[in-house]
Amino acid sequence: MQLQITRPDDWHLHLRDGAALASVVSASARCFARAIIMPNLKPPVTTVAQALAYRQRILAALPPEADFQPLMTLYLTDNTAPQEIEILAKTPGMLGVKYYPAGATTNADAGVTDLRKVWGVLEAMQSYEVPLLIHGEVTAASIDIFDREYLFVRHVLDPLLEAFPCLRVTLEHITTTEAVDFVLAGESRLAASITAHHLLLNRNAIFQGGIRPHYYCLPVLKREIHRQALLEAATSGHPRFFAGTDSAPHARQHKECACGCAGLYTAPAALELYAEAFNSLEALDKLEAFVSFRGADFYRLPRNSGSLTLEQRDWMMPEHFNFAEHEEVIPLRAGQTIHWQLAVPA
Ligand code: DOR
Ligand code: ZN
Repeated sequence: MQLQITRPDDWHLHLRDGAALASVVSASARCFARAIIMPNLKPPVTTVAQALAYRQRILAALPPEADFQPLMTLYLTDNTAPQEIEILAKTPGMLGVKYYPAGATTNADAGVTDLRKVWGVLEAMQSYEVPLLIHGEVTAASIDIFDREYLFVRHVLDPLLEAFPCLRVTLEHITTTEAVDFVLAGESRLAASITAHHLLLNRNAIFQGGIRPHYYCLPVLKREIHRQALLEAATSGHPRFFAGTDSAPHARQHKECACGCAGLYTAPAALELYAEAFNSLEALDKLEAFVSFRGADFYRLPRNSGSLTLEQRDWMMPEHFNFAEHEEVIPLRAGQTIHWQLAVPA
């Protein structure tokens, strides 16, 4: 079986920097035409000048034959200047602003401690129509980790959308029925991205026969009913759900330790894994819109030209890839079968 689709985009990607960047960027560029690049570097990317410099490093790390456009984001902090939004809005290659609640995830320490501190920035974003990309989880230590997303939707996102009636918002990497329902009930300025791993895995994966650090990500995997709701949303053809892999590589020793980092490295088979998820509901006819059209439409960018072909053919994911200087990164499905493969162009 073969499936030809318009070249897809990845609307949420972690590429890291330096030697790590060089070792992972082609895994995304092999199939995605564009990707929204997350700004949670150390230190975070907080100005347009820094984002453009990072963009140059990404372009320089690409193999010569690659045709891949990084779309850059700024990391919102309590100290972001509203003036930076005007610069962002006028700079080609910049896409939006990323909001991490402080402490919500990897390198989110510099995130926003209180939305009131960034009110002026949000006002500027609203007037310049700059999208806000949200890691939607509350962070209070008393809140159960599995409840963080839906409580964020209810207590933070809902009031935020009300306070800024024209702000364009993406709720990124959604994981719950509540987030799906909220987007379905929302206005056209609200969209959500969905990862391949949240479509394929439920939270049992983290505990299958022992503790499995390579299945630990944030937002954490959820119950099966949530996975089913995400699959239904992704394959529904609804215009405001689209692909964002959240591929997030970490060196093996930073995953396999007493306090392992959050993040799944899915880029080496991300598109193929989406195909698997869609095929599980016999909804391959909906895949192209989800990976190639919906995100571009929401972000008001042209759809890609050109196409690629996926073939239903088994192959084995390597046990690991080289990462940074002398490290390894373990991909999702390491040493296991992937059921779809990119056809090599004739
Ligand atoms: O699992 C995750 N990893 N979730 C995030 O939000 C950040 C990411 C990372 O940068 O490793
Ligand atoms: Zn992410």
